[in-house]
Amino acid sequence: MRAHPAGPRSNVSHAAGGPQQPDTTEHSLELEAGIWPQTAHRNLESGAIVIGGCDVRDLVTEFGSPIFAMDEVDVRARMTGYREAFDDPAVPTLVYYAAKAFLSTEFARWVTQEGLRIDVCTAGELACALRAGVPGSNLLMHGNNKSEFELSLALEAGVGYIVVDSYEEIARLGFLAERAGARPKVLIRVTLGVEAHTHEFIATAHEDQKFGFSLASGAATEAIERVLALSANLELAGLHSHIGSQIFASSGFEVAASRIVGLLADVRDQHGIELPLLNLGGGLGIKYVHEDEPPNVAEMAEVLRGIVTAQCDRFGLSVPELAFEPGRAIVGPSTMTVYTVGTVKPVALDGGTVRTYISVDGGMSDNIRTALYDAEYTVTLASRHSAAPLTLCRVVGRHCESGDIVVNDCWLPDDITAGDLLAVAATGAYNRSMASNYNLVPRPPVVAVRDEQASVLIRRETIEDLFATDQG
Ligand code: LLP
Repeated sequence: MRAHPAGPRSNVSHAAGGPQQPDTTEHSLELEAGIWPQTAHRNLESGAIVIGGCDVRDLVTEFGSPIFAMDEVDVRARMTGYREAFDDPAVPTLVYYAAKAFLSTEFARWVTQEGLRIDVCTAGELACALRAGVPGSNLLMHGNNKSEFELSLALEAGVGYIVVDSYEEIARLGFLAERAGARPKVLIRVTLGVEAHTHEFIATAHEDQKFGFSLASGAATEAIERVLALSANLELAGLHSHIGSQIFASSGFEVAASRIVGLLADVRDQHGIELPLLNLGGGLGIKYVHEDEPPNVAEMAEVLRGIVTAQCDRFGLSVPELAFEPGRAIVGPSTMTVYTVGTVKPVALDGGTVRTYISVDGGMSDNIRTALYDAEYTVTLASRHSAAPLTLCRVVGRHCESGDIVVNDCWLPDDITAGDLLAVAATGAYNRSMASNYNLVPRPPVVAVRDEQASVLIRRETIEDLFATDQG
């Protein structure tokens, strides 16, 4: 099985030679809809990409290279789209943006302005949301190993829901809540034996992973009993499950919903209570490359509501309030990374073909996903037109290891040269948030663009920033 659900589509062979050569010899002018941010297009005269009304060449001149350019119109539209898709009076649903995909203070404000709540999983994410003025009651906190410090902060902030993930945590939170005179709402994270990624899901009885309480082993039932036993200090508000990420099909959710609603029914039968909230996590997929076919959000919302309603009917339960936690699907498509080409090196492969290695001024420190998950991306020449024939390329970073690959296989014009700009699409989720200072490379800025204006959400790190914590 793949190292991670967000890796290549399981039904596509990535064997020898990578993708087929496109049938055109001219580098496509078109930025494929769904892959690129909504307002991104190519200026027909210059051939340069324009996003939010800003020419990427100007952005690089002003903010340096590489940069994450985020289309504010695109990301706000996705936030609104999610809110509206899940806005059904018959099945009230809370939508939490999953901060782990990307978070900055201003971004957290946008999330709130667009009517979404925020899911955080560390003290850092919590502090960022609070700093943005998000009310604690609009937050939900996850994590399989939250510290006492983090739980205390959550209690102090009045976080709306805390998702408990271990027996230790139930006891720890019970103790801290008693000490603080609080009674937090608690969800129990349940491992349902469903793992979904892209077109496939696997349903097993056995759950071999660190998150949650296993349904199959009875641990989830035991956790419910332990929380109920502490009901003076903990309010059992519902159940939570998260089955994976970059999911295209609803079938995994179907199995998950049927299992977890079964557990809701058990709770009713054994304890006489109908839990008011069912949180089905995040995971909706996005289009990284042409072959990806992510679901339409409104249709998926409809399907998910239908699945839960049907399962509740089956067990004679009233439908609980639902919650979802999309991360990638909100921020992923809004952003592209713009890099500057530094070197171009043709390398002869077995069989006489040539692969052109194009080195850019970033790499695994701003996009670890290719190295970590074999993730695929779409890349294009961003600063000009080219009518040169296409050649098989690999876009690589500047770091000191050969696995430092940004785009493994792509066809780019064979006249690409130092100083050209390349844009990589759909880098809004899990790129800046998973960025590192490997090789002591400062992390790129995140620049929001809209109506020909650019505003910096996170500025570029400086070499000096790197020494802010260095005590030498
Ligand atoms: N809720 C929970 C409990 C989660 O663990 C996650 C993601 C989400 C919501 C949001 O899932 P999304 O809608 O973004 O798929 N670093 C990986 C993705 C890890 C996802 C971790 N959990 C990647 O770059 O693909």
